Amino acid sequence: MSVQKIPVGRHVGAGLECDVYLHPTNDGLVIKIRRKGATQDRNAIEHEYLSFVKSNPLLPRTYGWVETQLGRGLVYERIRDADGQTSATLATALKTGRVTPDGTRLLMSGAVETLIRNGILVHDDNLNNFLVQRTGNRLNLVMVDGFGPLVMTLKARVRMYFPVLARHKISRHAQALMPHLEKALEEMASCHAGLTGERAEGWVQVHGNEPAPELFNS
Ligand SMILES: Nc1ncnc2c1ncn2[C@@H]1O[C@H](COP(=O)(O)OP(=O)(O)O)[C@@H](O)[C@H]1O
Ligand SMILES: [Mg+2]
Repeated sequence: MSVQKIPVGRHVGAGLECDVYLHPTNDGLVIKIRRKGATQDRNAIEHEYLSFVKSNPLLPRTYGWVETQLGRGLVYERIRDADGQTSATLATALKTGRVTPDGTRLLMSGAVETLIRNGILVHDDNLNNFLVQRTGNRLNLVMVDGFGPLVMTLKARVRMYFPVLARHKISRHAQALMPHLEKALEEMASCHAGLTGERAEGWVQVHGNEPAPELFNS
């Protein structure tokens, strides 16, 4: 019996190994497809990891596999803002002034706390793995990639099922996100001299996931 292949929608993002497309009939979903030539099937690892973690506000929900004209894809909740647009990556949100450096520090320290508290492994600290979601007057950070083990070995599975055994590793990897963010902020500051530190024109203050009256540029 042949499996019906669905056509993917608009391209919404790309990483080193995958392309991400809109679902053709449900704009609340995206499909993540491994690019040809990618060394490993990250989708399979993420699927297994998220099936175990089930639900966490920091991580996207996944809805299983589909066959597309570009190959097998993993369906994810589409992270989008209150206005319906796909949420920007942390790097883009910073570059475009949607969030201040101090705002990203607050969001990231909240994320680090959540990762440690929930025993979530991190293997990739790329800032493009974090999306800044604007919902009403709040900003949330969602980690769409980089969670779970790099390779699903037996040892990694043991760590997944018994995070208490890996708590030092989990904590070390999560905490490494902060200096990585600082480094990115420094690099950005040297490109945009004068934009860091003080509240700069066009940059808005953000108070982590606390509601705040004037979070966004319109
Ligand atoms: N669930 C999602 N909702 C909205 N955009 C997403 C989602 N997942 C990924 N993206 C976009 O696609 C890009 C690449 O996805 P990512 O999972 O990081 O791929 P890779 O595994 O190749 O690094 C992200 O930086 C982001 O812009
Ligand atoms: Mg990525």
